[in-house]
Amino acid sequence: MADGNLTNLAEAREAIYATPLKELNPARPALFQADAMWPIFDRLRKEDPVHHTEEHEFGPYWSVTKYNDIMAVDTNHQVFSSQGGITIAEQTQGDGPLPMFIAMDPPRHDVQRKAVSPAVSPSALMAMEPLIRERAGAILDSLPIGEEFDWVDLVSKELTAMTLATLFDAPQADRRQITYWSDVVTAVPTPGGLVETIEQKLDIFTQYHAYFTGLWNEKVNAPPHGDLISMLAHHPETRNMEPREYFGNVVLLTVGGNDTTRNTISGSILALNQNPDQYAKLRANPDLIPSMVSETIRWQTPLAHMRRTAVRDVEFEGQTIREGEKVIMWYVSGNRDETVIDNANAYIIDRERPRTHISFGFGIHRCVGNRLAELQLKIIWEEILKRFPMVEVVGEPRRSYSTFVKGYETLPVVIPARAA
Ligand code: HEM
Repeated sequence: MADGNLTNLAEAREAIYATPLKELNPARPALFQADAMWPIFDRLRKEDPVHHTEEHEFGPYWSVTKYNDIMAVDTNHQVFSSQGGITIAEQTQGDGPLPMFIAMDPPRHDVQRKAVSPAVSPSALMAMEPLIRERAGAILDSLPIGEEFDWVDLVSKELTAMTLATLFDAPQADRRQITYWSDVVTAVPTPGGLVETIEQKLDIFTQYHAYFTGLWNEKVNAPPHGDLISMLAHHPETRNMEPREYFGNVVLLTVGGNDTTRNTISGSILALNQNPDQYAKLRANPDLIPSMVSETIRWQTPLAHMRRTAVRDVEFEGQTIREGEKVIMWYVSGNRDETVIDNANAYIIDRERPRTHISFGFGIHRCVGNRLAELQLKIIWEEILKRFPMVEVVGEPRRSYSTFVKGYETLPVVIPARAA
């Protein structure tokens, strides 16, 4: 099945069901960019929930596609290790993968996670809330009325870039430079893409690294402060880390703190437009914002997968996974598992248990920034509903070419009018 055939979901479904089961390979960016990967996962959940793909550019791998099986892998770090990488793609940052705590096992993981966690503690979030609200309001007040614009650029990127610069205590003037670097991290080098070659990507990484080395030098010579860089520079467990390891953690915090929330903000606009009854429900009852936020995080699943590597042979759901084999937990599929979530393909903002989703993972690596992500989404929607009766999607979004970041490069919208 050639990727060129995947122009729409119906064609993709037909092609996927015509493919012999053992040849199914969900890890194809073109499939995700066309939003045409759903039938592969529907089929795998029913016919081969722990599936082996032999042929792939990054080598053979297992796909775990059901909610409870994903949870079982995610919570068993003794067998399914994060060391060595958490994406199907091998990280190609010059001399091997960058060390970062998401790609480590205990005990190193635990001490580094602990060093940065206070930056997103409940009290830190409470302190940040008024600032996020003020910025959200200013962004929304600056939007054009009755004219088409790109929601990704003017709202989703802008708000999350501001929050990230605050978390790093970097100058606000540099915020879009930081998001640009974040985009480069996850960009697959491809002609016409954000980066075209691996050499170009590595060049940009050099500038990115130099910028954050400067920030470290500033912080390490100043009294401790509540931002992420200062915490890493002063915490006894991290202040002596190698420069590559520091940079690896910067990359983790940049991507973690940015793309995911940005793509969920864009996803909320798209989902509510595709489901006008749900949008009407939300307008009529803004108290539904928190459950709408959780439902959108499930529906969007902004990180489509995480990878583990088996550290020994293991029997898992009738399959034998061998030591050293790659195991992909497809969160995007687990979130559509009908055996756990009723009517899982539907977007329903007042579900009974909206927090039953797997988008933040489980176990020792469960997202450290989940409450910050939810807070930004809640605030932007509280401020949107005060100002605009409708944000209307007026064209197709351009989706990311990635099997990891499930998001949007652009989303054209019009705001017809301000609230009376
Ligand atoms: C909707 C938004 C977000 C989603 C869906 C998301 C998703 C995830 C997922 C799936 C993981 C891995 C979980 C696992 O392996 O079990 C993770 C880890 C992580 N996330 Fe998030 N994330 C979001 C927002 C954020 C934000 C705002 C931050 C900012 C601080 C952040 C920082 C991190 C970090 C540092 C880790 C590594 C945790 C560890 O290894 O212990 N994330 N996130």
